[in-house]
Amino acid sequence: MPQLAGTEDFAAYLDQTVELDARLDGAAQVLRAIAAASIEMSELISLGRLYGQLGASRASTNTDGDVQKELDVLANDIFVSAFRQAPVAAIVSEELSEPLVLDPAGSLAVAMDPLDGSSNIDANVSIGTIFSILPVLANASSAEAHFLQPGRMQIGAGFVIYGPQTSLVFALGSNQTQIFTLDRRDGRFYQAVSAPIIARECAEYAINASNYRHWDAPVRAFIDDCVQGAEGPLKRNHNMRWTGSLVADAYRILLRGGIFLYPGDHRAGYQDGRLRLLYEANPVAFIVELAGGLATDCVRPILDIVPSGIHARVPLVFGSAATVELLTCYHGDPQFSADRAPLFGKRGLIRL
Ligand code: F6P
Ligand code: MN
Repeated sequence: MPQLAGTEDFAAYLDQTVELDARLDGAAQVLRAIAAASIEMSELISLGRLYGQLGASRASTNTDGDVQKELDVLANDIFVSAFRQAPVAAIVSEELSEPLVLDPAGSLAVAMDPLDGSSNIDANVSIGTIFSILPVLANASSAEAHFLQPGRMQIGAGFVIYGPQTSLVFALGSNQTQIFTLDRRDGRFYQAVSAPIIARECAEYAINASNYRHWDAPVRAFIDDCVQGAEGPLKRNHNMRWTGSLVADAYRILLRGGIFLYPGDHRAGYQDGRLRLLYEANPVAFIVELAGGLATDCVRPILDIVPSGIHARVPLVFGSAATVELLTCYHGDPQFSADRAPLFGKRGLIRL
């Protein structure tokens, strides 16, 4: 049997982290619970159709109107049970319309997307679980109030990716983002990649280009310039990747740089994009910043946004810092709106 590649064991990393900062003890307990639940998830997912119709649709829809899959609901139940073993006061989940109160004496509030990328279940493409850990507020008037803090207040966050490897990507406190990979031979997580730093610049973008006609002028201008490659103003050939699973795109960007965009667009209900602030954008922004990258809503840092509701959506752009800053410049530069807006007007007229 080949040697274990990983040097550091997950449990040892958490112990050391808590030894250095005892305030992270509760969040470390949440991470242990997530790791245990993710092993169960990983086994279930690896069985695919052998387990049953995991990717089959149910009659129900989630808070966002998406059709729920069997695995969405199973994942929600598995993680809710896991959080009962940790000091968690309340949970917000993509699959639950209201916050779920667990231990009123708990010190933490956890927001989660139990199964991210569920349209990829049947396609055997990577999917994941995303989580955000907040300290509870002392004088909260309701369970919901704990969750309406800006992402900057997160004490830990990350995601599990169930792919060829099952990996736990997380950051605790202000410590660097970590990636630990499950060794199925002994059922433990090891640090197989040392703390990733996102390259400052990149030439790879991720966006659902089928929405091109719905985008605002600055996003179209930016993508047009990427597509023009070496012959365009960016003077560099770009590559494009889009998996349809936020966790998979985030994982790739952590390891080799890149920019991800899910901007707001002109489709009904998409003015703030598709992704949810509490349990998609905030956790991704947290680990991206602690890996040297940036995350914005095209203009503002994601982590500074005060949520308007527990299931609020937000435009999300993240990845290589210089490229994310460049996208912000497109939004601030009048030449793009001045140059491109008439074109938009014309297109609008033609469609009518
Ligand atoms: O959870 C929402 C999600 O599935 C993300 O994982 C992914 O990035 C995005 O939606 C894909 O959106 P679309 O179907 O528009 O490509
Ligand atoms: Mn999701």
